[in-house]
Amino acid sequence: MTPERGRDRLSGARTASPEARAHHARVVAALGDTLATLPVTERHLFEARLARRFEDLFDGLEPVYGQRPDFAGFLERLVTTLARGWVVRPDASKALDMERDLAPDWFQHESMLGYVFYVERFAGSLAGVHEHFDYLDEIGATYVHLMKVMHARDGENDGGYAIVDYRSVDPSIGSDADLERLCTALRERGTSVCVDLVLNHCAREHPWAEAARDGDAHYLDYFHTFTDRTRPDAYERTLPEVFPDFAPGNFTHDERMGRWVWTTFNTWQWDLNWSNPEVFLEIVEVMLALANLGVEVFRLDAVAFMWKRVGTDSQNQEEVYDLLQALRACSRIATPAVVHKAEAIVSPDDLIRYFGIGRRHGKVSNVAYHNSLMVQFWSALASRDTRLMTRALGEFPKTPNNIAWGTYIRCHDDIGWAIADDDATAAGLDPFAHRSFLSDYYTGNFAASFARGGVFQHNPATDDRRVNGTFASLAGLELARESGDGQAVDLAIERILLGHALIAGFGGIPLIYMGDEIGLANDPSWADDPEHASDSRWLHRPAMDWAAAARRNDPSSIEGRLFAGLVHIVRARRATPQLHAAHDTAVLDTGHPHVFAHARRHPLGPFVALYNLTEGAQWLRRDVLRAERIEQPLDRLGGGPRLTADDHVELPPYGRVWLTG
Ligand code: GLC
Repeated sequence: MTPERGRDRLSGARTASPEARAHHARVVAALGDTLATLPVTERHLFEARLARRFEDLFDGLEPVYGQRPDFAGFLERLVTTLARGWVVRPDASKALDMERDLAPDWFQHESMLGYVFYVERFAGSLAGVHEHFDYLDEIGATYVHLMKVMHARDGENDGGYAIVDYRSVDPSIGSDADLERLCTALRERGTSVCVDLVLNHCAREHPWAEAARDGDAHYLDYFHTFTDRTRPDAYERTLPEVFPDFAPGNFTHDERMGRWVWTTFNTWQWDLNWSNPEVFLEIVEVMLALANLGVEVFRLDAVAFMWKRVGTDSQNQEEVYDLLQALRACSRIATPAVVHKAEAIVSPDDLIRYFGIGRRHGKVSNVAYHNSLMVQFWSALASRDTRLMTRALGEFPKTPNNIAWGTYIRCHDDIGWAIADDDATAAGLDPFAHRSFLSDYYTGNFAASFARGGVFQHNPATDDRRVNGTFASLAGLELARESGDGQAVDLAIERILLGHALIAGFGGIPLIYMGDEIGLANDPSWADDPEHASDSRWLHRPAMDWAAAARRNDPSSIEGRLFAGLVHIVRARRATPQLHAAHDTAVLDTGHPHVFAHARRHPLGPFVALYNLTEGAQWLRRDVLRAERIEQPLDRLGGGPRLTADDHVELPPYGRVWLTG
């Protein structure tokens, strides 16, 4: 293809800036014969995708690297790297790319269900996962987030988030070939594999860091290093601490290097310097390699921290969104079957920007975690009051329609009480007192609580106490089982199913954390492993209990009741097109203090979900449904909802209904 033709074909050529058009022509020319070995249709496909997405790529990179004298050369190298990735992309993945060109909403579909697990804790190894395909099918998983997959440092490694080699699988669970085999086998069953891409930092033992420690100038520039404390001190004035207990401060002095290095998380996790375009190129090569092994979703870890700016908290900086848009464009050009999930546990206004708003509308990531939904579930469950939940979720900014929330109740991380002061105040609560109450409630400091949890990272200055615990333990199952109180067990089961229904009915991809489908309790022996002993989040990362899972088809067992309940919800979800993620969720302010209600307005007809967050029955006026054009409600989760003679819908303890009609 000649540069001239490339220029003509640049998508949006009428609106793209002259600079973007000129750079597009240059990168196309620089491709030379990179694509020459490919059949002509495959060559054209790459060129067409490049033309289609070049503007997004350029608009992401130019604000970050545009002033550098080597910018044009960098773009040429980047696009040539993408082309090389496409040349070696396996045919099966190229076929999937085309399927997804035709169905770009695949990850938004109501049939999507995620299952999240540590490979080692679920199946021992990557090869071992094959033995549990039937189990994944029974749950209805269409997406699995495999954790601790890439090669992490020995010893403490933050649950796998301290990478020594982004391109190879952790030897403790298998090889690259094992990962490829697993991706292929799961893909054949219609299940997509998600792995973590740790963008903010690598391990101190990563060869890049090792070279920097040896004083190699090229690699020193991969990190934020400082010869004295002047700049670290300037940054520290406005930086929070993520792990105040076990990793206070944000900088670590490395004796070998004779410098301070930026370490937001642990001292052995070195933050990468994204202002260096070499880092961008390195990560793109990693993405291409993993995508070509068959990975279909990248969970972009800790992205909020990727850009540093003095005088700020160095989170959610504009450059982060630009960089993520550019990374997204790279995938769209060279591995279009792949989507990006941003892990940003930040405030709603910042969070929404990880999907892209304004000029980046819908271009930054495809999926992001709905942290607030999770927090509000736990908050309403403890307080038996949904007014804060209704207010906080009702105020949420509108999302682009090409995204999906990752909705979840538990994950491998702690729960932080991310409740905005103004939301709490508007709901009649003292923000500080409410957050303290929640920490007390879930960590054993509240006598009447049903929950069993632990404190994570107590900050005495703010009394901020994050919470550890599995879904089952926090929802009361552990205590109820121990006490042998059948009624308490029933209530705990209903709480868990309520949570599953909430994340399945909200819109987005529900993410079930391993063990929550059978009510796995906290791991009392979590600290026995020296690699885990300093990080109490291992309390809620128990190994899979396959003996308990074997009871899942016994309807009289707790596992059987939970498992069947979840499967029922997942099946109902699949049969409810209103749950396609492209449609908005509208929180309904019904004035009811104990019921959470939302609608999804779909061309095929309205949908209203109601959730009772208390252990007592609740009644909601039917005019709430009529306002959403539901006259004769049908409960997709149950059949007929209970309607009272005085025109109310009755919700049993922890009841949930998904109404259409
Ligand atoms: C993400 C991970 C968390 C980890 C942190 C630092 O938040 O989910 O487990 O500790 O990143 O890598």
